[in-house]
Amino acid sequence: MKDRACISFDNEKMIFHIKTRKTSYIIAVIDGFLAHAYYGTRLEGSLTLNHLMVEDIAFLQGNIGEEGTFMDSFPFEYPSDGQGDFRCPGISIKNDKHITGCNLKYEDYRILQGRRAIKGLPYSNGKDISSLEIVLKDVNNLVEVTLSYSVFYESDIITKNVIVKSISHRTITLNTVMSSSLDIPYDETEVISLPGSWARERMIERTKIGHGQIVLASDRGISSHQMNPAFAVVSKDTTETTGPAWGMALVYSGSFVARIERTQFDRVRIVAGISDNDFEWTLKPGEEFYSPEIAICYSSEGIGNMSRCFHDFVRNNIIRSKYIFKERPVLINNWEATYFDFDSKKLLEIGQKARDAGIEMLVVDDGWFGAREKDNSSLGDWECNTKKIPEGLDGLCDELNDMGLQMGIWFEPEMISPDSDLYRTHPDWALRESGTGYVMCRTQLVLDMTRKEVRDYVYACLSDVFSKTNIKYLKWDMNRPLIGKVSTVTPPGELHHRYMLGVYELQEKLTEQFPYLLIENCCGGGGRFDLGMLYYSPQIWCSDDTDAVERICIQEGTSLFYPPSSMGAHVSVCPNHAVGRITDMKTRGHVALFGTFGYELDITKLSEDEIDVIRQQIDDYKKYSHLIRMGDLYRLISKDDKAAWMFVSKDKTEALLTYVQILGSANKPRVLVRLRGLNPKNNYLTDDGRIYTGDELMNIGFATGKVFGDFKSEIHYFRAVNNTEKDIGEDADEKL
Ligand code: DGJ
Repeated sequence: MKDRACISFDNEKMIFHIKTRKTSYIIAVIDGFLAHAYYGTRLEGSLTLNHLMVEDIAFLQGNIGEEGTFMDSFPFEYPSDGQGDFRCPGISIKNDKHITGCNLKYEDYRILQGRRAIKGLPYSNGKDISSLEIVLKDVNNLVEVTLSYSVFYESDIITKNVIVKSISHRTITLNTVMSSSLDIPYDETEVISLPGSWARERMIERTKIGHGQIVLASDRGISSHQMNPAFAVVSKDTTETTGPAWGMALVYSGSFVARIERTQFDRVRIVAGISDNDFEWTLKPGEEFYSPEIAICYSSEGIGNMSRCFHDFVRNNIIRSKYIFKERPVLINNWEATYFDFDSKKLLEIGQKARDAGIEMLVVDDGWFGAREKDNSSLGDWECNTKKIPEGLDGLCDELNDMGLQMGIWFEPEMISPDSDLYRTHPDWALRESGTGYVMCRTQLVLDMTRKEVRDYVYACLSDVFSKTNIKYLKWDMNRPLIGKVSTVTPPGELHHRYMLGVYELQEKLTEQFPYLLIENCCGGGGRFDLGMLYYSPQIWCSDDTDAVERICIQEGTSLFYPPSSMGAHVSVCPNHAVGRITDMKTRGHVALFGTFGYELDITKLSEDEIDVIRQQIDDYKKYSHLIRMGDLYRLISKDDKAAWMFVSKDKTEALLTYVQILGSANKPRVLVRLRGLNPKNNYLTDDGRIYTGDELMNIGFATGKVFGDFKSEIHYFRAVNNTEKDIGEDADEKL
């Protein structure tokens, strides 16, 4: 089923029914109010919606039907405040007399083939999208609100965004505009969130919902290391493979908030969108405000299925880069190899060794510009430092190209060092924390991306480098939060959002002018790992923690919503620079294979044995990366002492299993890992020459090797074969 058929409107009952392959999202118009009636397993029959019990919804004894009590219990599809609904609002508006409140009533709807663009923001895209727009009008004639829903039928994802248009004759202020509100029954409901810190991003946390609110938020001007803008609401018993999970991921990279509220009547209201902390957006008559988009998914088959739905959606409908399904070059980045202490001689030495080992690209990280010898100067002076690189970027790039290596480069376009020519010329281009002062972070300040002349300058610097050289990759970094909100041009209440609009504008221009450029977004590691950034770049540096053992947790947390092919993951040197741990080179490779794969070490200091391991790892990457880029991920084991995961090709004829023994123990038996996602009827040949049935592998399990030691790992490749061990393809069942 495609196109319009997945959205229907029953004119008599006034019910909207959005269907995806396995889910239903139902909205009803009741007395002019829009109710969120249901979001869950797909319903096929004719709908009664008797469960809404509208007649006793206003529960205050003796006052059934009274407006105030009705407003505080009705499951609004898009709730507003100031009218008696005391739960967290979707929208909050002040009129010109500073009086808060609007009352939204159903006005109209449209079903579209395709979808409306979201001005200035990243949004889901692709073929075969159907969308529904429901128009609500405020009875006080302040605003018209359009709720927009786009349907991604195959991946069981619906995206939502909101357009608020002023219909007032006077200026009004928006204080809250959430991208979505949902209302689900409380059923021992829990929240899975992804909090963290620098080098400890996206640690999975599961919290019970008591009465009141759980708030997940960032007010740092970036989606942040501390809380990711993606989360799930699940039942107490939901597991990786069973139970309900409602997943949500904002397509946004700035300050955000999600509130999960268990109400007095044991419902759970979930709102999420742009942070409304000090948010004040002024709308003049006729002006519109576009909220960021949010992607939502319901899975009745646990968290693993929810993740796979998100992975398909993100790969097919968020990431636009031509690299999305392509093999990415194996790169080596000089950051952990040299930090700021390098010159072109050193880079060429690294390059030569890297090329000999089979590496395909050298990325020159921080320190190539201005007078940058440490992190306290030159951001903004994007001219090559010819003391370090006398031949210039173009010359260095040519030399690397002649060696057979591509070249990539690091930029931090949003920043300015107080010790820079740019700052000396334009001190007012930096954002301040109060009228005159600023709070230093990593000895740098943030450029005011809300100003056009600033964006024009930054763009000219970027475009100059990519127009004049053959550089094929950009690492776009961002290393500090926005603290204050003092701009010379933009009011504080609009600053964070306008800042993001500025950053998005730059990345959009860049992807248009240099479509071949492989962009990796980065934010002090993974401080801006979100769907907004993935719209512009197929990959994001996952974390500055490159330790293989810690990376297992970071990558697992990230994989709840984001596809492994989007995770920048490198093999780095030991003892690891973030944690001091020593792990096996093989294990480092196996863990980095979970993501984009590359190196972050001084290859000139490695032994020949270690270089041989690199050659083997690159071979593995070439053999298996299609499974990681295009296959389905199954998280199999996630324990303190061991972890296992696998990738299965869409046609189920190939799979790659990774097993890591984190801590060894004496006299330990082999571990039986029960695989998932295979075809039970297929025979699978492993790399040790044995044949198993898919059925056995999934129900009995696959016995790992006798792994000895801490931090050891192994990978196993499975290929569907017929009885003569000849490869079989998509029609595996028939040929057996
Ligand atoms: C933070 C990034 O995450 C690192 O990989 C590196 O690029 C540094 N910034 C450079 O300053």
